[in-house]
Amino acid sequence: MPESAPKGLGAARHSGRRIEFVALSGVSSDAPRRLTRNAEFDRVCGGGLVHGSALLVGGDPGIGKSTLLLQICCTLAVGEKVAYISGEEAVDQVRMRAARLGLAAAPVELAAATSVRDIVASLDAADGPRVAVIDSIQTMYVDTLDSAPGTVAQVRASAAELIRVAKRRGITLLIVGHVTKDGQIAGPRVLEHMVDTVLYFEGERGHQFRILRAVKNRFGPTDEIGVFEMGEEGLVEVPNPSELFLADRRGDITGTAVFAGLEGSRPVLVEVQALVAPSPLGTPRRAVVGWDTARLAMVLAVLEARCGLAIGANDVYLNVAGGLRVTEPAADLAVAAALVSSLTGEPVPADAVVFGEIGLSGEIRAVSQTDQRLKEAAKLGFGRALMPTPRRTRSGGRGDDGLKRIELDQLADLLPLFQASQPPARPRS
Ligand SMILES: Nc1ncnc2c1ncn2[C@@H]1O[C@H](COP(=O)(O)OP(=O)(O)OP(=O)(O)O)[C@@H](O)[C@H]1O
Ligand SMILES: [Mg+2]
Repeated sequence: MPESAPKGLGAARHSGRRIEFVALSGVSSDAPRRLTRNAEFDRVCGGGLVHGSALLVGGDPGIGKSTLLLQICCTLAVGEKVAYISGEEAVDQVRMRAARLGLAAAPVELAAATSVRDIVASLDAADGPRVAVIDSIQTMYVDTLDSAPGTVAQVRASAAELIRVAKRRGITLLIVGHVTKDGQIAGPRVLEHMVDTVLYFEGERGHQFRILRAVKNRFGPTDEIGVFEMGEEGLVEVPNPSELFLADRRGDITGTAVFAGLEGSRPVLVEVQALVAPSPLGTPRRAVVGWDTARLAMVLAVLEARCGLAIGANDVYLNVAGGLRVTEPAADLAVAAALVSSLTGEPVPADAVVFGEIGLSGEIRAVSQTDQRLKEAAKLGFGRALMPTPRRTRSGGRGDDGLKRIELDQLADLLPLFQASQPPARPRS
């Protein structure tokens, strides 16, 4: 009904007040932040926690969300009032965890509660906590709704109430949220819109590495990661992830390549492992851990169509060692190198790092921050880099970092490096 809208607006005209517009050029101070003294966590948050902001930490069950936040709480509690409100565990359970982590003496105010009304009343005081953890939002409920805790309506209403009091009182609110199987925070997607920052805590089961990744941040970049190692004493920061990810590496093994990657502002070297084996199945298997399945399909198609390699009838397994999830297209060339190495039985040179994006016509495209990648590789003792030709000039030879640069224009240029044994050529019709 087109007439109804103007009528509604007309009726509202009397009740609305004119808002005051100000110039964009006004002076405003930077958002005040508190440092948690956990360098990995601070970096992912964009340089510490912003006062009065709401931060959501999502992650699979048992990944270590409660452990991380308890550790953060305990360091923050030294200087100011910090509350840890658990809806999932009894006070004793949290105490036991604190004792195991060696943090039992920290002056954190601990409570087991799930009623949002009670929590808001406790937070909404002049002498209330400056930082509050809610573990988890799926256990919280507002008593004005009939639905059970964890439902979309409850999660949304609880978060809204808690965020409102946090903004009013300048409290930094750290909310734990559970993640569904497909990687979304359970409950409404709207929860992610309501908070200022969303962090995912991820890692592969059976690995001790944990990666904290910012997926949304109103106060900083979203491409940073923090790397932790889970042990008996809790989560330990890993200041140099490359060393950790390459710790178990054995050189000169077929089907592996070291990818010189970039996670946010940090270069990270990881090993890409591939296994190409004849398939007994009509539809060969493609299994990927730590990378994008669609991207693997593309690299395989380019290897077939532009380099004449016959991979189609093989099972292909791809794994990023150490539990890191790589999202950069720059990993294409490392994946291709690992695949070709597995197919030909020739190892990628043990002292080589690989990076470069592959286009559909088989061209190798330049990627950003080449120097940083090369510097990290040189630091870790690598001697050469298989990489794209830089956009401006073909530099060749060695750079300042002492790394020998092997620059590739086309994916087909990769094959002569594996020529000691003959790759099975695809019969051309
Ligand atoms: N006694 C222990 N020694 C070493 N590690 C332990 C011990 N107890 C628990 N852990 C580690 O801590 C992890 C659980 O951490 P935490 O409870 O913080 O996870 P969470 O993400 O909060 O889980 P949930 O989703 O159940 O709330 C376990 O998976 C295990 O790796
Ligand atoms: Mg927990």
